[in-house]
Amino acid sequence: MADLIEMDAPVLTEAPVITIDGPSGTGKGAISHLLAESLHWHILDSGALYRLVGVGAHKNGILLNDINALKKFTIEMEVYFSRLYEGSLELNGEDISTQIRQESSGDLASQVAVIPEVREALYERQLAFRQMPGLVADGRDMGTVVFPDAVQKFFLTASLEVRAQRRYKQLINKGLSVNLRDLLQDIETRDERDSLRAISPLVPANDALVIDTTDLDINQVFKKVLIAIQQALNLGI
Ligand code: C5P
Repeated sequence: MADLIEMDAPVLTEAPVITIDGPSGTGKGAISHLLAESLHWHILDSGALYRLVGVGAHKNGILLNDINALKKFTIEMEVYFSRLYEGSLELNGEDISTQIRQESSGDLASQVAVIPEVREALYERQLAFRQMPGLVADGRDMGTVVFPDAVQKFFLTASLEVRAQRRYKQLINKGLSVNLRDLLQDIETRDERDSLRAISPLVPANDALVIDTTDLDINQVFKKVLIAIQQALNLGI
């Protein structure tokens, strides 16, 4: 009898992970944040890591075709997150919180993100965020590559126009100067680069729940996410 009970009981050897992937402006950052707060789980903003590499390389005059220097920088960079989500961020002792959120940093991030050596170097760092009681991982390849064994995977989408509008509001609220038409163009270029790259492209995992957020506000999306998680995990949130 005791043996049977042991066989039936799932043994949780690693912290559970929920992944939230999708292009920018779909609300995945905000949803990840709300979810991590509700569950009291850790959060990984993987886009911030790619932004740090892009901005750091730029600041240090490392050319994007100097793969060895980029790889070394990615492995050695010292990162300090003051808060888990959108708090201040330090790179090698310098506060780059404002700069990191600019659209130009997103562009630099997506340029370094096509380089296999950079992705490989960031892979280990991302795995280290997986700690008890659990992790909400936000990115592009969280469910497909980094945490394929996630207990629940989401992929958020929305029309290009709506995503650009949302990003516009976010950046303006942060006091950053931005032009809507340029932003739309930047997002389109970034989407294309992220979706067409050979390694870890932006695609939904086969087992991801795809949510189109075009006509939904953040609370409506969060409700859908919670329902799916409750059904999948019986978490009683
Ligand atoms: O999510 P965020 O806009 O901060 O991501 C910036 C860029 O980093 C993305 O456009 C993408 O190129 C890259 N990225 C990635 N894989 C992730 C997260 C971000 O390639 N998991």
